[in-house]
Amino acid sequence: MKRLYMQEVATRDGFQNESTFIETADKISMVNALSQCGYAKIEVTSFTSPKAIPALRDAEAVMQGIERHPDVEYTVLVPNVRGAERALGCGVDEANLVMSVSEPHNRSNLRMTREQSFLQLKEVVSVIGAGPVAVNVSLSTVFGCPMQGDVPVDEILGWVDRFANLGVRGVTLCDTTGMAFPSQVQTLSAQVIERFPELQVTLHFHNTRGMALANTVAALQAGVDRFDSSLGGLGGCPYAPGASGNVCTEDLVHMLQLMGYDTNVDLDGILQASARLPQLIGHPTPSQILKAGKRLDLHPIPEHVNTLAKQVVSNAAQGVK
Ligand code: COA
Ligand code: ZN
Repeated sequence: MKRLYMQEVATRDGFQNESTFIETADKISMVNALSQCGYAKIEVTSFTSPKAIPALRDAEAVMQGIERHPDVEYTVLVPNVRGAERALGCGVDEANLVMSVSEPHNRSNLRMTREQSFLQLKEVVSVIGAGPVAVNVSLSTVFGCPMQGDVPVDEILGWVDRFANLGVRGVTLCDTTGMAFPSQVQTLSAQVIERFPELQVTLHFHNTRGMALANTVAALQAGVDRFDSSLGGLGGCPYAPGASGNVCTEDLVHMLQLMGYDTNVDLDGILQASARLPQLIGHPTPSQILKAGKRLDLHPIPEHVNTLAKQVVSNAAQGVK
């Protein structure tokens, strides 16, 4: 059974996009519940400017308040050196750096040119140094930017190359606004894996146009074994027009388990956690499996079917046609 590594992002990518402020204690209790569910990694929060992302202004309190499970890596989003210092102060396992491969999206999200972002992130990598904290870089809008359109593949590979040369452990290819489609995903994922065999490669899909599960299958075919996903399908970048939810963790895990992959994730456990979300965020989530149940959660046969069947038997016994 092929082992896949599932990385939960609901408490960062999901909560950052909610208009209701989720209480610190509720965030902590959600991370604690998810820590028991077999994830490889949980993206707990982000150490961004509280003006840019007010929903996550309690990052320190959350990171310091959670109970850490020894088998889970706890990562946080870091946009700059200030963020890195805050993250290091909380003893995170990984810093997830972020920049966009599209110039307009980078300017809109991070208020810098891509070149300025790279220089800042280079500094972040050197601040984190060769210590125990790993570095991952999430590259936004890899499969299309809502302002620029397609970003040339050579440019994307060029950014991966520059970060690989800085010695980062991993790179995440992010489909920030759900523009990816399966054949594109398969081709680009295969290119990245082939050219950068030393990198941990993660795929990060949003389901904005309903293609996230299909894109996941395409990425699997290219050899990808790490996926970000968000409980309940929450998520979205506040600085990308039309952005909406990440691929929903329970829908993804449900599919992967049916296909025979070892996700290590406790599907019933995450469904229980997902059922708590609507109350926390004040609206329903796009989760399909929470609504429909698992494929073989069978329903009782309705009473009228039994009555009908009895009637047929009794009619047959009486010779009625
Ligand atoms: N943590 C806390 N505060 C920070 C910070 C950080 N990592 N980085 C900057 N700040 C504060 C500064 O201290 C300053 O505060 P002040 O106005 O009280 O003096 C303010 O934010 C502006 O700082 P500046 O350096 O001018 O940054 P900016 O306004 O150009 O913002 C970013 C740059 C990247 C920090 C900001 O845009 C950001 O955090 N964006 C988040 C993007 C994001 O997470 N998007 C969704 C995920 S992809
Ligand atoms: Zn995202």
